[in-house]
Amino acid sequence: MLADKDRIFTNLYGRRDWRLAAARQRGAWNATPDMIALGRDWVIQQVKDSGLRGRGGAGFPTGLKWTFMPKEVKDRPHYLVVNADESEPGTCKDRDIIRHDPHLLLEGCVIAAFAMQAHACYIYLRGEYIFEREVLEEAVREAYEARLLGKGNVHGWDMDIYVHHGAGAYICGEETALLESLEGKKGQPRLKPPFPANAGLYGCPTTVNNVESIAVVGEILRRGAKWFAGIGRPKNEGTKIFCISGHVNRPCNVEEAMGIPLRELIEEHCGGVRGGWDNLKAVIPGGSSVPLLPKSICDNVLMDFDALREHKSGLGTAAVIVMDQSTDVVRAIARISYFYKHESCGQCTPCREGTGWMWRVMERMAKGEAEMREIDLLLDVASQVEGHTICALGDAAAWPIQGLIRHFRHEIEERITRYRGGRPFVPGTYIAAE
Ligand SMILES: Cc1cc2nc3c(=O)[nH]c(=O)nc-3n(C[C@H](O)[C@H](O)[C@H](O)COP(=O)(O)O)c2cc1C
Ligand code: SF4
Repeated sequence: MLADKDRIFTNLYGRRDWRLAAARQRGAWNATPDMIALGRDWVIQQVKDSGLRGRGGAGFPTGLKWTFMPKEVKDRPHYLVVNADESEPGTCKDRDIIRHDPHLLLEGCVIAAFAMQAHACYIYLRGEYIFEREVLEEAVREAYEARLLGKGNVHGWDMDIYVHHGAGAYICGEETALLESLEGKKGQPRLKPPFPANAGLYGCPTTVNNVESIAVVGEILRRGAKWFAGIGRPKNEGTKIFCISGHVNRPCNVEEAMGIPLRELIEEHCGGVRGGWDNLKAVIPGGSSVPLLPKSICDNVLMDFDALREHKSGLGTAAVIVMDQSTDVVRAIARISYFYKHESCGQCTPCREGTGWMWRVMERMAKGEAEMREIDLLLDVASQVEGHTICALGDAAAWPIQGLIRHFRHEIEERITRYRGGRPFVPGTYIAAE
């Protein structure tokens, strides 16, 4: 388990004051001007050496991403955009950072913006996060008042932060849809290339990073890249906030070492699976879009990018959704399919048509009304949606279904057989994970 001294988010549970004075006592904004004085090359090298990988889902190395920005500012200003849209079902970590430790985020924004030569940063906040916006705006106000932000601030790097409130669309978490939305347009993903580092917000060089990716930067520089890189496994370093929900005794958010065994995470921090470990059926380890894993894999799997990829799943946003034996796993995935169908922006055909098609088949499968051959047909359609769309929402819709068929095909087959035999599956024998 991660030692308390290695935790970055010491107010994750909001037991202490989030305001500037208290945040400073916990270490936020401590020595920030000194870090900036060491120059942008030093900052970027430290972030690279720390091994930090983006915490928004894809796990792209953060320091490397920062180097994609042009070396010199020419006729176009540079921008930093913080993705606080946090809409992946199961995920609720950025929310706790914002409402309980907002100054860590603001400090990270100043450092990251300096490293990329941006004088303006936009924080794009999920539409439903009303209270979080109030806290964040107040924290920004405090930072201006203390001359941590604004022109002529104590860091010697002029810097403005704007909080922008979204309107509740999941797709606006995709970085280019977010930029469209920020520009006041309909939130639809852009075709890449060009990538945001070349043409992002208002056509200017832009880097989009997740809240957690930015909020850890100050502490990494304070304690040194080696400290962060010393936690976890190679290429999967550092600490990470896991959001554990579902059939556990005590659902929680917890900062842990990357690579912690899933079983330890659940048993040490969540009081175990409801009814004991043997009552576990499956776990979705990284937010609703990643393929679920059956108990046999959960027994030993480690929670990091590479270990989960080896099992054809992913760490995603590290939102761990636990399902015990009472779960109707086919219905649970049908419900997730509905979510992706509902959130598709409709721009590209495989996603617009495919998500609805897959959801309708999943609904029939949940009842057993489908035909056996449709299982392979569904798998085929899912594989044709995956990788053939403008953004990764198409993949996100396909993966849960692929995972279900990979590990729980027998449950779908059994349900179809029962239906055809005049003994249809009765919902309620399981409690649906709705
Ligand atoms: C459909 C969709 C929704 C996404 N939603 C979010 C989100 O809510 N928050 C987030 O940080 N990244 C989200 N992402 C990932 C972003 O596009 C982007 O990769 C991320 O913000 C980069 O930050 P990072 O490098 O710090 O991880 C989403 C991606 C897709 C395809
Ligand atoms: S994959 Fe779906 S959400 Fe993404 S651009 Fe295409 S239609 Fe829109």
